Amino acid sequence: MKIIAIVSAKGGVGKTSISANLSAALVRIGHTVLAVDLDPQNSLRLHFGVSPHHIGGLARATLAGTEWREAILPGLTGGYVLPYGQVNEDDRQDFERMLREEPELLLRQLESLDLPRDALVVLDTPPGPSVYLKQALSAANVTVIVVLADAASYATIPMIVGLIENYCTKRTDFIDYFYLVNQVDRSRQLASDVTDVINMQLEGRRLGMIHQDQSVPEGLACSQDVLSYDPHSRGAHDFVTCANTLDRILSDQVPAS
Ligand SMILES: Nc1ncnc2c1ncn2[C@@H]1O[C@H](COP(=O)(O)OP(=O)(O)OP(=O)(O)O)[C@@H](O)[C@H]1O
Ligand SMILES: [Mg+2]
Repeated sequence: MKIIAIVSAKGGVGKTSISANLSAALVRIGHTVLAVDLDPQNSLRLHFGVSPHHIGGLARATLAGTEWREAILPGLTGGYVLPYGQVNEDDRQDFERMLREEPELLLRQLESLDLPRDALVVLDTPPGPSVYLKQALSAANVTVIVVLADAASYATIPMIVGLIENYCTKRTDFIDYFYLVNQVDRSRQLASDVTDVINMQLEGRRLGMIHQDQSVPEGLACSQDVLSYDPHSRGAHDFVTCANTLDRILSDQVPAS
């Protein structure tokens, strides 16, 4: 089992969309994938065709003392999703207290799932520092930092890298961290220039880029990943390219170029 954490310091950069669509692309190239929602927004499940009325998930299971396994749901296209679950404010605080008291709760629970040896777990996280991000970084074998091609997003990179250095890089089971530039729009000069600068500066740690593509939100509106919604879209192509790069990193354990 390899654990891939999708993280960012800034909100709204596309972590949940990437967690869902990268999982779908990894399934497409032959992996067994479990996408895990570590964000109380509980929105990852919607990308997998799970009903908005479904309330089960890992937070509820932990509080009830039941197995996380029982809260896993099959997606429509071969992957699996473990939602955060719907909890009230008191329960959310209780769950976060449990996470604070046991820093490796996530890793323990994931190991207890007895997933196939070659399974991949993709963790969606809330933006910025939190008890969820700390758990995700403490468990991750690979961390993917999502950035937009803009100055505000770029400026937050040192903060997230600092956290990765704290929780990931000293562990012998940690492979490396990589950047994924999302919502790239080459039709705008500034966005295109910033993309080039980011690509240059992050060389060696680039997982790839995902273009701004309306198929991504449209797929979500239809409860589908972008590969199912529009397999020939630019977004679908980008996610498969990133999945192949990630696959190569995991099998070779060498940095991307
Ligand atoms: N490549 C893309 N092309 C077009 N729209 C995108 C793309 N990636 C994400 N979006 C849109 O951007 C918005 C934010 O995406 P998403 O919810 O995945 O971000 P997030 O980082 O998970 O947000 P949060 O920090 O709140 O968890 C959504 O409306 C999503 O559909
Ligand atoms: Mg999100």
